[in-house]
Amino acid sequence: MKLWGGRFTGEESKLMEEFNNSLSFDRRLYYEDITGSLAHVSMLQECSILTLQECENITMGLNSILADIESGTLLIEGDYEDIHSFVESNLIQRIGDTGKKLHTARSRNDQVAVDMRLFSKTMASKLLGNLIELQNSFLKIAEENKEVLMPGYTHLQRAQVVTFSHHMMAYHSMIGRDKKRLLNAMEIMDESPLGCCALAGTTYSTNRESTASKLGFAKPVDNFLDGVSDRDYLIELLSCFSMIMMHLSRFSEELILWSTKEFSFVQLDDKFSTGSSIMPQKKNPDAAELIRGKTGRVYGSLVSLLTVMKATPLAYNKDMQEDKEQFFDALDTVLICTKVMSELLCSLHLNKDNMFQAVKKGFLNATEAADYLVNKGMAFRDAHGVIGQIVIYCESSGKAIEELKLLELKEFSNYFAEDVYEFIDYRATLKKGIKTIM
Ligand code: ARG
Repeated sequence: MKLWGGRFTGEESKLMEEFNNSLSFDRRLYYEDITGSLAHVSMLQECSILTLQECENITMGLNSILADIESGTLLIEGDYEDIHSFVESNLIQRIGDTGKKLHTARSRNDQVAVDMRLFSKTMASKLLGNLIELQNSFLKIAEENKEVLMPGYTHLQRAQVVTFSHHMMAYHSMIGRDKKRLLNAMEIMDESPLGCCALAGTTYSTNRESTASKLGFAKPVDNFLDGVSDRDYLIELLSCFSMIMMHLSRFSEELILWSTKEFSFVQLDDKFSTGSSIMPQKKNPDAAELIRGKTGRVYGSLVSLLTVMKATPLAYNKDMQEDKEQFFDALDTVLICTKVMSELLCSLHLNKDNMFQAVKKGFLNATEAADYLVNKGMAFRDAHGVIGQIVIYCESSGKAIEELKLLELKEFSNYFAEDVYEFIDYRATLKKGIKTIM
């Protein structure tokens, strides 16, 4: 059934109907669509546009539709153009002619705009919960491994010693910023477009403040043309999702590397790995690889919506219907990836000894050994040269710097004394270097 059949004489082609139909994906907005309508009719009654009796009938009808959808007795399917038509048609079927008054002083343009805002606000809160959980998982594993030393890298080459905790807390900081970005996006989008109607409001004296406050928005939007055609908030959320995925992909990449035989720093729990159908020895880090891969998919949605919105004239255009599938897909992806990563992290096994061996073999106190000579009076550039020579010597004899005898060290510089060993001790260097908690 069409809501807009009045001015048409010919039939819409089947192909066009199929092409235009959005019910298969906007059905996801049923709750927000009904909630928006409930606020709308209540406002219409307050403004004496509907009688109390009409408002009560419509409210009862909408609530029964909601209850039946949630209990599974009313399936969202059939020959309806979109979720808005589905709800309105069902309302008219249930309560008769009064149902035809629901759409007074409203357009599907402000209706879909308010539905999407309500939906994305709820989902952003859900994601915020996932981020808090993920941040806690990073904190937990950091707290449990404060004493674990590992190589810190630059250029993926062993650079200086760090603690495993400090490495984990780097991700804790990233997720902390992701939370702030998300909260900021939620604050900016907290305006109701309901009441803008198609683009230029309505001749009825409606009350946008009332619907905005009933629906939990901070205020109504300032501009009607912008209100119905603004999709910035979705793009901003997609940008937050992309940044979260970028962070997850960096950690995924590290987990994939660390779980190789070559690194052997960690072992993923069986819960989050899979095997090979042909190579019996394999244990693959699929969860981390999937997260890394799905990052591309979320970036794709961001670029897709930016491109959909590019150069669209004011106000509403049907192009904007293309926001939904991309947004839903990216949202589902980031929700599951944050959840999987959090659980994977809690079940991670560390090979602490391998990490420490890598620290020793990596000359990760070379910088501090140079600092030692500087403290004794040598210029840093000269000290850098001396330690470079010592590293060559160590490599050929298979030793770490701290394993050299004082006499051997003195061959390279007379500044070396007994106190060098304490100075270049890994834990001592860490204490001097990283001056934060964990
Ligand atoms: N399905 C549409 C969308 O998602 C709803 C708004 C339709 N408005 C219209 N005038 N055709 O954008």
